[in-house]
Order: sequence, then C-alpha cells, then structure tokens
Amino acid sequence: MRLSGKIALVTGGSRGIGFATAQMLSKNGAKVVITSRDPKRLEESVLKIPNATCFVADIRNSKDVKGVVDKTIKEYGKLDILVNNAGMFPKIKQLHEIDEDEWNEVLDVNLTGQFRFTKEVIPHLQKTSGCIINISSDAGLKAYQGFNADAYSASKAALILLTKCWALEYAKHKIRVNCICPGVVDTDMTKPFMKTEKDIEFMNSEHPIGRIGQPEEVAKAVMYFASDDASWTTGAILAVDGGESIK
Ligand SMILES: NC(=O)c1ccc[n+]([C@@H]2O[C@H](COP(=O)([O-])OP(=O)(O)OC[C@H]3O[C@@H](n4cnc5c(N)ncnc54)[C@H](OP(=O)(O)O)[C@@H]3O)[C@@H](O)[C@H]2O)c1
Repeated sequence: MRLSGKIALVTGGSRGIGFATAQMLSKNGAKVVITSRDPKRLEESVLKIPNATCFVADIRNSKDVKGVVDKTIKEYGKLDILVNNAGMFPKIKQLHEIDEDEWNEVLDVNLTGQFRFTKEVIPHLQKTSGCIINISSDAGLKAYQGFNADAYSASKAALILLTKCWALEYAKHKIRVNCICPGVVDTDMTKPFMKTEKDIEFMNSEHPIGRIGQPEEVAKAVMYFASDDASWTTGAILAVDGGESIK
C-alpha cells in the first residue's frame, strides 16, 4: 500500500473533507490521528477509520496543539504527514459590517491555527522527510463578487503564500509542502448555502464541470501529495474545484 508505515495527522478530521481524507489515507495504509473540538463526534468518526486515533483539541489553543503532537509522537514514535484542514466559515457580511473580533476569530482558526500545527510538527517531519498538505480554498485564489467573507479569503490567500514559503524553507530538510484549493464541496460548511433546490442549482452552475464537489474528490488530491507519486512536487497550489477558479 502506498502509505504503509506512515503516520498522518489530519486536523478537523471529524467530518467533511478532513474525515474523507483520514479515511483515504487509512485505506492506503497510513495510521491516522484526527483532531477537532467535539469529543462525541470525534469518537463516532474514529470508529469509521481503520487504524485511527483521535485527540480533542481546539486549534486556537497552542497548548492543545502541542498536546496533540506530543501524544501522537508518544503513541506512534514519529510523524510523516500533516494535513492542515481544520477551518471555519464566517457569517456572510460586507467588510464594513465585520467587527474586529469576528475578523480575528477567522484568522485565528484558519491561519494561526495552521501556523500552530506546522510549527509543532516541523521538528518531527525533519526526522522523517515528511510532508504537509494545506487545505486552502478557491476563495484564496481570486475575488468572487458578492462572496462577502473577506477574513476567510484573507486567511486562505495567506495559506497559499505560506505553502510556498514553507516549501522553499524546508526543502533542504526534504519536507514537501503543497496546497489544495477546493471549490464548493458538499459538507456541513456549505449546507447553509444549499437550503433550496434553487440554491443547489446555482452552486452547481458556478462550477464549469456542472456540479459541486464531494469530500472524497479532495481527499484523492491529498492522497497524491501525501504519497511518493508527488516525490518531486513541493510548493504546488492545486485547484480541485470543477473549474470554478478558471472562470
Ligand atoms: N466545503 C467547502 O466547500 C470548502 C471549500 C474550500 C475550502 N474548504 C476548506 O476545507 C477545510 C475543511 O472544510 P469542510 O468543508 O470539511 O468543513 P466542516 O465540514 O465544517 O469541518 C470543519 C472541521 O474543522 C474542525 N474545526 C473547526 N474549528 C475548529 C477549531 N477551532 N479547532 C479544531 N477544529 C476545528 C471541525 O470540528 P469541530 O467544529 O467539531 O471542532 C471539523 O472537523 C476547511 O479548511 C475549509 O475552509 C472547504
């Protein structure tokens, strides 16, 4: 199997893209650690992933993050793959309606959270020549009229640039860092925008391929970056979006 002997950590692995990714990595032979804030949901999810462990952690809390990485090393002795997936979507508001706390929360979860995990895992990935896969978004690649989630766009754009910074900096340690930018994917995050048939039709039509994506379709791209198939690929930004970002 392509990931035999590998240890993978997937943040936000309790549901959506993170859960599908954890299942995909496990199916390909990795032992997987998933994290999120909700212990009940985590326990339910981990049962559906062979060879997996879960640790409760809030990505906004440095101690929680360090605790997850320490426990992973204690349990498995090493780490090969980090998937920086956990994220949140704010209430839709125009920039002049957002207050500073709302802005800061999004940046704390979607950007500083990825920094916290990356910082903690780098010393371990240096030992294994491991890799990092950042889950950004099409919203980090370009502006969408009427999107009105500026803090989200800012956090995702920053993660795209950080992918390149980290890839460049840690290439000498043989750590590869790559990034995926999904279009609209069918998860809890996007449910509020697809309440009616009309909403669903609109969302589908926004993607040149004619439909929104499924979490497994993003997980397959993560699998590529996590495997030796991507052994000469670092700093890459891959849109997995049914063509949404090329419009
Ligand atoms: N769905 C899309 O259309 C789409 C498109 C582009 C990019 N993305 C990105 O893909 C990633 C996954 O999105 P998704 O659609 O799968 O979202 P989701 O279904 O809402 O899942 C989000 C995951 O992140 C975790 N999480 C959220 N806040 C957290 C916090 N403070 N601490 C720890 N864990 C936290 C959640 O667990 P708890 O809430 O239980 O803690 C959950 O496991 C995100 O980074 C998102 O921005 C999604």
